[in-house]
Amino acid sequence: MIVSMDASLEIRIADDPASLAEIAAHEIVRVARTAVAARGRFTVALAGGSTPRVTYRRLAQPPLAEQMPWDRTLVFFGDERGVPPNHEDSNYGMAHTALLAHVPIPPQRVFRIHGEGSDPDAVAADYARALGEALGVRRGEIPRLDLILLGLGVDGHTASLFPGSPVLKETFRTVAAVHAAAASVPQRFTLTYPVLNAAACVIYIVSGAEKAKIVKAALADHATAVPAAMVRPSEGRLLWMLDRAAAASLPPRRTP
Ligand code: 6PG
Repeated sequence: MIVSMDASLEIRIADDPASLAEIAAHEIVRVARTAVAARGRFTVALAGGSTPRVTYRRLAQPPLAEQMPWDRTLVFFGDERGVPPNHEDSNYGMAHTALLAHVPIPPQRVFRIHGEGSDPDAVAADYARALGEALGVRRGEIPRLDLILLGLGVDGHTASLFPGSPVLKETFRTVAAVHAAAASVPQRFTLTYPVLNAAACVIYIVSGAEKAKIVKAALADHATAVPAAMVRPSEGRLLWMLDRAAAASLPPRRTP
C-alpha cells in the first residue's frame, strides 16, 4: 500500500479491489472506535453505487464485524435514487444486502432516504429533519457526521452532486432532491456540500481503470469543475482510498 499525505489530503493506494476493500473496511472500524471513545457514538453516511459493496461485505465478516460498535452506531446515506428500498438500483438495498442484514445494528439506528416518495422535495426535507433530529442539531445548524463514505463517477460526480447541477451551489439545505438527466435513475436525493464539508472524516473509495482520468482531474490543484474535488472537510480528514488501476494517472508527487 502506498501512502501520500499533505496537510489536507491523504491518499492510500491498494494493489487491487480486494485489498482496497480490506484497507477501507479496517479504516472504517478504526474511525468508528475512535469516535465512540471520544463521543460515545459513531455516525456514518454510507456511499452508494457498486464500488463500496466489496468493502461492506468485508465489514460484515469476522473479525471486523465484531470489532464495530454497532450498538453505538447511527447509519445514514450520502445519497439515494428515486426507487423503493427493494429495487436493484437502491443504495439502501445494496448496503442492506451487503452489510446491514448481517450485523447486529438495531433497525431504528438505520436512517434510509425514502427514495420511493412521490414528492421529491418532501423526501429531501424529511431526510434533512431525520438527520438533524438524530444528530441532535437545531434547525439551520449543519450536522457534523463522524464519517462520510463517497464514491466517484466518471463524470466527476460524488453522492448525487453532478456537474452543472444547481445543488452544487446549495449553502443552506442539508439534503436536496436532484434531477440528473444523464443518470440511470434521474431522480436522486443527496447530502449537500455543507454537510460533506462539515464531516470529521470523508473517505473516497474508488476502484478501476475507467476512473483513472477523473481521479487525476479530481486531485489536481484548483480542480473546481469536478464536483468531487469540492469536498474538502473544513475541520476534518480527507482520505482517498484507491486501487492501483484508479491511481494509474496520478502524478508522481501524489504517489511517492
Ligand atoms: C450513486 C452514488 C454515486 C456513486 C458513483 C460511483 O448513487 O450512484 O452515490 O455517487 O458513488 O456513481 O459509482 P460506482 O461505484 O458504481 O462506479
